[in-house]
Amino acid sequence: MAKSIISPSSGVISTPLDGPSDRLRQGAAAEGLDAAIPFSQWPALNGYLRAAENAAEDCGRLARLLSMPRILLEIGCGDGRVARQIALKNPDLAVIATDAYEWDGPADGGSQYRRVALAWCGRQLAVQQEMPANLVLLRAQVEILPYLPAACLDHLLLIHPEPQTARSILDRLAQENFYRALKAGARQIVVVPFCREMGVFACGGFEFEHDADWSRGLGVLTASRFVFTRAERVQWGVDLPRTSLYTGGSTQTDVFVAGTLRGGQPRP
Ligand SMILES: C[S@@+](CC[C@H](N)C(=O)[O-])C[C@H]1O[C@@H](n2cnc3c(N)ncnc32)[C@H](O)[C@@H]1O
Repeated sequence: MAKSIISPSSGVISTPLDGPSDRLRQGAAAEGLDAAIPFSQWPALNGYLRAAENAAEDCGRLARLLSMPRILLEIGCGDGRVARQIALKNPDLAVIATDAYEWDGPADGGSQYRRVALAWCGRQLAVQQEMPANLVLLRAQVEILPYLPAACLDHLLLIHPEPQTARSILDRLAQENFYRALKAGARQIVVVPFCREMGVFACGGFEFEHDADWSRGLGVLTASRFVFTRAERVQWGVDLPRTSLYTGGSTQTDVFVAGTLRGGQPRP
C-alpha cells in the first residue's frame, strides 16, 4: 500500500515505519508542519484521532478550529469538496470534515471510496492541496462525538450517507453522550439522503442493505428520533446536492433539516 499512496518522487519514505500516517508525519516534520498547536487539553480526543492515523498537524488544526465560536461537523465527507465550499463561503465557521477513509480491502474492487481514502492518506486530495484555514479533513466516524467538548457543534452535516450508516449515525446522535456535543437551541442536522443507483456505483457494484423506500432514502429520516423537514438546497451559501460528486445518478436531491428531537430528551 505504501507505494500506492506516497509519490516515489516525494522522498518522504527513508526508513521503515509503522503505518501510513507515520510516513505522513515524517513528511510533515520535514516541512516543519509538525509544530502542532497544543492539543494536550483533549487527551482522549487526541488519542481517538491518533489511533485512527490522523497526522499530528491535523490534530493541531482541529484544536484551533475548536476554539472558533461556530462549528460544523460533516460525517462521511468523501473528498471534502462540499466542506471546502462551505468553508470558503463562511470564513467565520469552523468546518470539521470527517470520513471513515477505509483503504483496506481488495485493490481491484474499483471502489471510489478506497481511491479517495488512499488519496486522503497520501495528502493527495485536491482539497488537501488548497485547504482553507477554517477547514480540516479527518479520518473519524460518528464515535468522535463523545470526545468533542460539550455543546461545541452548531451543525451536523450528512451528504449522501449510505442508509445503514445514516441510520446508525442518527441513532447514536439521539444518545446523550453523543447529543451533548450539539449546542442547545441550534441542534441543526442537515441531511441529503442517498439513493440506490449511486450506492451500487460507489461500491463498485456491491449492494447495500436498503430500506423499503430506498429510492428516496427517506426511511432513514422517518425512522430516526429527529423531526426532519424539507429545506432549501442552498445551505451556508452552498447548493449541497449540486456540489456533491454523488448527486449525478441520484433520484434524491432534496435537503432535509432536523432541529428537534422527538420526545425532547436523548437516551441515556
Ligand atoms: C456516497 S459517499 C458521499 C461522500 C460525500 N458526502 C459526497 O457527497 O461527496 C459516502 C461516504 O461515506 C463514507 N462512510 C461510509 N461509512 C462511514 C462511516 N461509518 N463513518 C463515516 N464515513 C463513512 C464513505 O467513505 C464515503 O466517502
